[in-house]
Amino acid sequence: PAVGEAIPHEAASLHVTGRALYTDDLVHRTRDVLHAWPVQSPHAHARVTGMRLDDALATPGVVRVLTADDVPGINDAGVKHDEPLFPTEAMYVGHAICWVLAETLEAARAGAAAVEVDYAPLPALVTVREAIAADSFQGAQPTLERGDVDAGFATASKLFSGEFEFKGQEHFYLETHCALALVDENQQVFVQSSTQHPSETQEIVAHVLGLASHEVTVQCLRMGGGFGGKEMQPHGLAAVAALGATLTGRPVRLRLNRTLDMTMTGKRHGFHADWRVAFDDDNQLVALDTTITADGGWSLDLSEPVLARALCHIENAYYIPHVRVNGRIAKSNKTSQTAFRGFGGPQGMAVIEDILGRCAPLLGVDAAELRRSNLYEKGQETPYGQPVEQADRLHRAWRQVTESADLERRRAEIAEFNRTHADRKRAVAITPVKFGISFNLTAFNQGGALVLIYKDGSVLINHGGTEMGQGLHTKMLQVAATALGVPLSTVRLAPTRTDKVPNTSATAASSGADLNGGAVKNACEQLRERLVTVASQHFGVHPSDVRIEAGRVSAIGSKAEPLAWADLVQRAYFQRVQLSAAGYYRTEGLHWDSAAMRGCPFKYFAHGVAATEVEVDGFTGAYRTRRVDIVHDVGDSLSPLVDIGQIEGGFVQGAGWLTLEELVWDESDRPTRGRLQTQAASTYKLPSFSEMPPDFRVALLEQAEEEGAVYGSKAVGEPPLMLAFSVREALRQAAAAFGAPGVSVPLALPATPEAVYWAIEAARAGA
Ligand code: MTE
Ligand code: MOS
Repeated sequence: PAVGEAIPHEAASLHVTGRALYTDDLVHRTRDVLHAWPVQSPHAHARVTGMRLDDALATPGVVRVLTADDVPGINDAGVKHDEPLFPTEAMYVGHAICWVLAETLEAARAGAAAVEVDYAPLPALVTVREAIAADSFQGAQPTLERGDVDAGFATASKLFSGEFEFKGQEHFYLETHCALALVDENQQVFVQSSTQHPSETQEIVAHVLGLASHEVTVQCLRMGGGFGGKEMQPHGLAAVAALGATLTGRPVRLRLNRTLDMTMTGKRHGFHADWRVAFDDDNQLVALDTTITADGGWSLDLSEPVLARALCHIENAYYIPHVRVNGRIAKSNKTSQTAFRGFGGPQGMAVIEDILGRCAPLLGVDAAELRRSNLYEKGQETPYGQPVEQADRLHRAWRQVTESADLERRRAEIAEFNRTHADRKRAVAITPVKFGISFNLTAFNQGGALVLIYKDGSVLINHGGTEMGQGLHTKMLQVAATALGVPLSTVRLAPTRTDKVPNTSATAASSGADLNGGAVKNACEQLRERLVTVASQHFGVHPSDVRIEAGRVSAIGSKAEPLAWADLVQRAYFQRVQLSAAGYYRTEGLHWDSAAMRGCPFKYFAHGVAATEVEVDGFTGAYRTRRVDIVHDVGDSLSPLVDIGQIEGGFVQGAGWLTLEELVWDESDRPTRGRLQTQAASTYKLPSFSEMPPDFRVALLEQAEEEGAVYGSKAVGEPPLMLAFSVREALRQAAAAFGAPGVSVPLALPATPEAVYWAIEAARAGA
């Protein structure tokens, strides 16, 4: 069967030969396209008091300037209605005030430079600390509480407290944001958008244009990476393109170049945490009390659900009897921070992993042992009340990594290396991941599909998920081929469109394969049942005796020649049997009370364990990752090569966030205050081949079938990112090796070479 086969990504050869089409590639195939360029605010916060367009309109090639006056519907691009599309108040440096349309990109750019905007600057909050001090918050302030935290602290023997502030992350998808909008003779709007959530893009475009949803169709061919950055951020851009197209009658292309993308669009949230933690005499976690503040930027966007996920992952894979987590979202004058692989989960886990890394030496225990001995055991519940049914998988993965990575022997080797090397130190760290799968918002946990069988037997599947490189389409082809009983080559997949599948959910929360796989399977099973009826009549057998395998149709107990799949389809057509089916799936058994922060929001947890060895240079803080061993739980893999690719890619992206990538905003009082200083690859360091561990071993956890999920599989997209905590913890331990035994080392996140250098200095000074 196709499911579970190790096949390459369905578009791998297109990707590597450059033939894969992305939204902007369609521009060259479209006539009379107008190009859009924004007028960006130079101020972090300012009222717009005037605007003169004459010079811009006189610029050769400029066709039109789009402003708030042009909006026929609602001038807002936010699901929360807090994101004016054409604002009267600039909320961050780079905020688009209006958009210029022109015959060429250069003309649009020149036209934008010629727009004169008057600003009345206002005080700006640039850092999360400034926002906290100014009491500048937005959205809900949930509290997650279990047990009796104060009693926990009163009885526990070992108490620690601290403060931890850490940065966000730029998505740096290779394909920047892009939309191409067209109108037809009836002013129906067709938008091609690089979006993870086509239905929501459709809704926002319709709101802005004052249209009904059935007048707007959104298509996503594929994305050159989304990573959460295209879950909500594409909507306003698509709306600007669609507005331009309806007003000019011409196609409008809006593509952000890298600088525009980095200065205008949201990123992973940075967080601030104040924490107190208590351990008992056996170094078991007793209580955690923390207030975490997400730096939301100028508008809410997805900050509330991101914060909720951070709260629900604060304990990562560890049982803590008494927990209190207060969550807040700071409102600051920066880009509106948004979803990013892990969706707040990584930020929540960063808090506990940092705590354990800091406290292990203070408790006089090895960090690996502290982590292992606090892992969940079967029967224990998360702080929000969901049982951790598969806690044994955490322990199995831990043991498997410990053995396959030969940790005992290597620890001895490392100790010997460190004893004999004064200026270089090595360390190996092992960390677990437990990540909840499903959207906290229960309604999102549904998927739709439309499967068509043509008279020649070929099959075309549509589903509501989008492809961003993660291999969802590959998995859906495998699911359809398996469910129908045909070879993979019989099935083709069409680009995601809102006129094929209505009310799609975001392809996010790693749930694309679960939800859309369920829907595709459901549609295929309906079709198969109809075809089996036709075959049973042909063979004169009971339907349960019909077999459809690899495109061959036979019957148990019949001497008749087997039928080819295409012949069966032909027969069905002439018998007037419907050869299309809409599929539907929804995740059962979920319940979540977002006010009380209690319930079972997740269908299951994905688990993994990683062990990472690093070597650190004592003069510079420069480091190398020497070896990584991972055991990760993907259930019964739908597509092993795709899953291993996701694990490797997620890990490296996580290592980028934790150790390399550093967003820097200008915090000075100069006129450039609030400007993103890292707005290109030259100043924003991304992981590349040179940062890949030379020895990288990924194994899938065995005997991991997930009951009730599509073909026993589990989601894989986000959880492996958080395996990269092992890199940062190894760096901390290597830095500590420069100091006296038992030194507790503070380490910044990201743990850049500079940060590691300061950690080494702290270790030498006795921290
Ligand atoms: N992998 C690639 N190559 N490109 C991406 O943009 N996005 C990640 C993950 N893996 C991403 C990726 C994120 S944030 C999510 S939520 C999932 O893929 C979404 O896809 P899925 O639900 O099909 O796993
Ligand atoms: Mo992923 S952050 O849920 O798009």
